[in-house]
Amino acid sequence: MTQSTRTIGVCNGGGDCPGLNAVIRAVVRTARLEYGWSVIGVTNGFNGLIWPEQSQELTLDSIRGILPRGGTILGTTNRGNPFKFPIEENGQKVVHDYSHRCLEGMKKFGIDAMVVIGGDGTLTIANEFSKIGMNVVGVPKTIDNDLQATELTFGFDTALHVATDAIDRLHTTAESHQRVMVIEVMGRDAGWIALHSGLAGGADVILIPEIPFTIETVCESIRRRDAMGRSFCLVVVAEGVKLPERDGLGKPFPKPQPGQVGNSIGYAIREYLNKEVRVTVLGHVQRGGSPSPFDRILATRFGVAASDLVARHQYGRMVCLHAGKIGSVPIADAIHALKLVDPASDYVRAARAVGIAFGDEP
Ligand code: F6P
Repeated sequence: MTQSTRTIGVCNGGGDCPGLNAVIRAVVRTARLEYGWSVIGVTNGFNGLIWPEQSQELTLDSIRGILPRGGTILGTTNRGNPFKFPIEENGQKVVHDYSHRCLEGMKKFGIDAMVVIGGDGTLTIANEFSKIGMNVVGVPKTIDNDLQATELTFGFDTALHVATDAIDRLHTTAESHQRVMVIEVMGRDAGWIALHSGLAGGADVILIPEIPFTIETVCESIRRRDAMGRSFCLVVVAEGVKLPERDGLGKPFPKPQPGQVGNSIGYAIREYLNKEVRVTVLGHVQRGGSPSPFDRILATRFGVAASDLVARHQYGRMVCLHAGKIGSVPIADAIHALKLVDPASDYVRAARAVGIAFGDEP
């Protein structure tokens, strides 16, 4: 490869995700070892461009040992859109457009291209920057796996392992006590984690945002298991499910607060069936900790491919996984809509065929 003197930046925004450090490491190692470039690690989303003094060069030394580490060495935020940056002025909350400050921050470091790692929110910002002249390439990230234009995002596999392990553990205690176990997993808009972990963990009921359900139908499935002598039940719920209007006894469902949807469903099942129900909300356990080997590898492949896009000056594009191979697409293709579970997909068909209920069909 031809080596030239260039400086690039790398940043990540939105929620953290296992594998972020693996991408950062891959970008830095490819940039330095393959292309001979310098890399600036931009901290806390784009904040490290607005306040460049927060950012610093990433060397081979500074990224040593980060491959298996969860979180991100750059820090992150989901409240830092530079185009609408929220600040407090005289006790009032106002928003400012700090995008020009980001471009100035890049100039200060001599950064000529940014690698931006993010989900739909951060990549939407990256796309806006691309429109005003920033050289930017995107890397898809989210445990929810709900980004269009890539078959997978890194972080999903790790979250899936955590959720499946939790279901396995709940299985044994559910059976001992003959209880209904409700487990709420992440998935703000899409049911990928719930569907996959439910399949892998042998759930009895899976509730996802893409398939409307009723409590009566869920309880019917639990009753049917009871009648077959299986008096325990595992109900996996995606946090983003839309609750039905009524709770099964005809009362309106109270509007759940974030993190409460599993509890609301558990309570409704308990009231309707008069059975012992316990609820586990897995929450951020799914986002923390060391990435799985699969996520480390995917993140590394994405990081290398992002550096290669920069080398070829192919800006405004996002690396992606397609048919098992790494490619790239315009960032705009990834952000126009979320990738949701298709209720007619073979995953859902397989789940139904092995007896998993979705709360929609008796
Ligand atoms: O988008 C990823 C995700 O983990 C969602 O599944 C979840 O709803 C959200 O982030 C939680 O975000 P926060 O860290 O702001 O609570």
